[in-house]
Amino acid sequence: MNSRATPIITGEGEGRRELKKLFEPVDVVPEVLRINNGIVRSATYERRADEDGFVTDDLVSLYEALATGGSGLIVTGCALVHPSGRLLPRMLSVHSDRYIDGLARLAERVHAKGGKIALQIVHGGRQSLPLYLGGALPMAPSAVYDPSSDVTPRAMTTDDIWRIIDAFAGAADRARKAGFDAVQIHGAHGYLVSDFISSHTNRRQDYWGGDEERRFHFPEELLEAIRAEVGGFPVMMKINCDDLLPGERGLKPEGAANIAVRLENTGLDAIEISGGMRESTVRTIRPSILNESEEAYFRQAGALFKKRLRIPVILTGGMRSRRVMEDVLKNGEADMIGMSRPLIREPGLPNSMREGKEKADCISCNKCADFLKYDAVECFDLTGKT
Ligand SMILES: Cc1cc2nc3c(=O)[nH]c(=O)nc-3n(C[C@H](O)[C@H](O)[C@H](O)COP(=O)(O)O)c2cc1C
Repeated sequence: MNSRATPIITGEGEGRRELKKLFEPVDVVPEVLRINNGIVRSATYERRADEDGFVTDDLVSLYEALATGGSGLIVTGCALVHPSGRLLPRMLSVHSDRYIDGLARLAERVHAKGGKIALQIVHGGRQSLPLYLGGALPMAPSAVYDPSSDVTPRAMTTDDIWRIIDAFAGAADRARKAGFDAVQIHGAHGYLVSDFISSHTNRRQDYWGGDEERRFHFPEELLEAIRAEVGGFPVMMKINCDDLLPGERGLKPEGAANIAVRLENTGLDAIEISGGMRESTVRTIRPSILNESEEAYFRQAGALFKKRLRIPVILTGGMRSRRVMEDVLKNGEADMIGMSRPLIREPGLPNSMREGKEKADCISCNKCADFLKYDAVECFDLTGKT
């Protein structure tokens, strides 16, 4: 039970929290983590760690620019908790104490520029790729074929599951030791934690799966293991509000809100809303967000989550205009606004908006999301690289 949250009474979240303005400070965790404004740089893989996952000077410069640019909280690109969950080349890693010094340098540089930083921790689960696993099969709750990679993962044993829970707890503690302000569990987008939550990817009939309650056992055990390791250090999680799969398959907003309530009751400090997995028909990183009606594409889920939760809600996905962001806060659809692509193009966007800029320059062309085509993630519309 979260010592900071009162027990959940469904439907009582709304109205209790004072409505926020975009550039007012936000108490993410009262008396523990306060951020300067409600803009969060949502986790963004940069392909700028070295081949072994260590922090590089290039990565430090990028984070300095983000911190100088005024984001209230910066969430790092996903950092690997165990080699069996590798999903991308040159991703950050945190599966050994050897990574602490580099991560500490990253956190220290962000703090020196007045920013706050959370480490996102991930295991790729079903979407880890044999290419990065020395040819081994990825592991997942169940052996469910993934058409996006043409791979069927192997089902995890109970020993595998506890080993990975331990790996997450160790990773969270390294984030704390490295001086980060929080850790964020990547529980979205079809990676391991999301695989356990989703009825599409979790077909187990044991303690870890079978119905909504048992599919919650993995995130519950995970959060408890992390909490036992890090004490009062802020722990956040990004989850899908919808797996964006056809028909009745996978997680839908009502079920996702139930999971969020359970997470709050288990001691989560803040939650970020996203959606989709690699095989989804509608993309997580939706292209061509060109007018206000296309922005904030998970806002309905934001309203649902906010009604049922007391912990702060970050809403991510297609935030481009200051007016839309302010509307989302005013309507009680979120407490904080998450952005990824706009900040690849303009790390200084939060400060520009504070000074009056109305809209991000990002055109959602999604060239930045073509992860494997280039050496490092950047705004290719801006740099003109083809
Ligand atoms: C280049 C790139 C890398 C991303 N890497 C991550 C990641 O490491 N972890 C994560 O949770 N989401 C990741 N995302 C998804 C974003 O955090 C965000 O949920 C999504 O892009 C929608 O927000 P936006 O419209 O502001 O871009 C990434 C997106 C992009 C474009």
